Amino acid sequence: MAGGAIVSTGASKDYPGKLTFFVLFTSIVAATGGLIFGYDIGISGGVTSMNSFLLKFFPSVYRKEHENQSTNQYCKFDSQVLQMFTSSLYLAALIASFFASVVTRMFGRKWSMFGGGITFLVGAALNGFAKNILMLILGRILLGIGVGFANQSVPVYLSEMAPARLRGMLNIGFQLMITIGILAANLINYGTSKIKGGWGWRVSLGLAAVPAGIITLGSLFLPDTPNSLIERGHADEAVHMLRRIRGTDDIHEEYNDLVAASEEAKLVKHPWRNILDRKYRPQLTMAILIPFFQQLTGINVIMFYAPVLFKTIGFGGNAALMSAVITGLVNVFATVVSIFTVDKLGRRKLFLQGGGQMLVCQIIVGTLIAIKFGTNGEATLSKSYAAFVVLFICVYVAGFAWSWGPLGWLVPSEIFPLEIRSAGQSINVSVNMLFTFIIAQAFLTMLCHLKFGLFYFFGGWVLIMTTFVAFFLPETKNVPIEEMILVWKAHWFWGKFIADEDIHVGGGIEMGNGRSKAGSK
Ligand code: BGC
Repeated sequence: MAGGAIVSTGASKDYPGKLTFFVLFTSIVAATGGLIFGYDIGISGGVTSMNSFLLKFFPSVYRKEHENQSTNQYCKFDSQVLQMFTSSLYLAALIASFFASVVTRMFGRKWSMFGGGITFLVGAALNGFAKNILMLILGRILLGIGVGFANQSVPVYLSEMAPARLRGMLNIGFQLMITIGILAANLINYGTSKIKGGWGWRVSLGLAAVPAGIITLGSLFLPDTPNSLIERGHADEAVHMLRRIRGTDDIHEEYNDLVAASEEAKLVKHPWRNILDRKYRPQLTMAILIPFFQQLTGINVIMFYAPVLFKTIGFGGNAALMSAVITGLVNVFATVVSIFTVDKLGRRKLFLQGGGQMLVCQIIVGTLIAIKFGTNGEATLSKSYAAFVVLFICVYVAGFAWSWGPLGWLVPSEIFPLEIRSAGQSINVSVNMLFTFIIAQAFLTMLCHLKFGLFYFFGGWVLIMTTFVAFFLPETKNVPIEEMILVWKAHWFWGKFIADEDIHVGGGIEMGNGRSKAGSK
């Protein structure tokens, strides 16, 4: 049956079972893995805008900022070493995610989270007690390894535990924790910057141990997912777990599908080589493009450097940190919106709406800055003008927070068949980290050269990614993970890559006979 004949219904197979307290609880614990990532994202911008920190580790940046008051505003924070402080973590996370993929597949999702938590804990201690730049960067690297492991395992864990119809909601718990971590970090920076004696930055960096402690301990109590138990040959435990997480004994259909998926997976000896097969082309493309696009929204310009950015446009130190708290709050609340809409409206609507909103705001913010600073960057903004800039930055953050933020982690974690899931997720994490690294490393320099045009630059990318979603990303809401292949098969473009023989899911679902109900665009 030709792929084109399959009609999209937007509905899908629904296994029996409900959202049990057990699943809710384990998902909340696992999602706390997002806290460590978020805390990191939020903490470095504030710390690098503290004078005592700059004086100790980056005296040349300090001098440039203070002695040369008249230099171009756009360029006063441009320092490769300072950027290296923020970005080194993401490079480490990138490399770690490949090792994490092996741990996740061979030992289960849980031990990957535990490993991430412990490494992160050591990194936090090194940073809090840092005496020199070496300890500082080494600490950042350990934190990065922790993030690599957590980001590899948590999204997959959540997507596997969740019943299909609530997968979006539970998975976004991860993103919600990221945003709470960022906000906590912003608030802590705001408080510690006021500590007399210039050691506030130590508290900021050292407190990363708190979220690390939570996920390290929490992971010890987590059960592994049925998918992972079956994959590792523990069939009885998997049945037991599936009954427990679905709250019913009627799990045979889902169990059989998981076993079928696992049998398929066993045939694949080399997930890394296999992911290059033609039939996985849609998933591979998404594993690369989704995280790439997520970072090219430019969000981390705000998340990492909000205090620095706000200082650049003329805010005082205090106001700059406060504005970062405001964007942090917007980020958390807007993420909650996606939790309650993602499984109803679907992924595509959120992507398209959020993209449009971000684009408009980027054009407005770029223009507002252009009008005042032009290209020589010599001006300060009046209070009301600056408030206007912050307002549009907040609307932009909200657009991101209910679209690319959560979906950038949700969609890749739900589209890979089991045999390539760990490998696929590694690609997702490492591409994400690579571009997080590039933006962290290049932003201050880009700001110095592109000036207000930087906002247009990211706006251009948002236009491209929104168009891409419109044409190439099928709807995945409510589709059981192990049936996702039907969605690709039904898609006008990706369907060509999947032969009928490639479809063995759902205990003999045949394509095109009316039982094929994968949602699609
Ligand atoms: C992204 C981060 C970003 C954060 C903001 C996450 O989904 O991966 O790079 O800083 O959202 O909330």
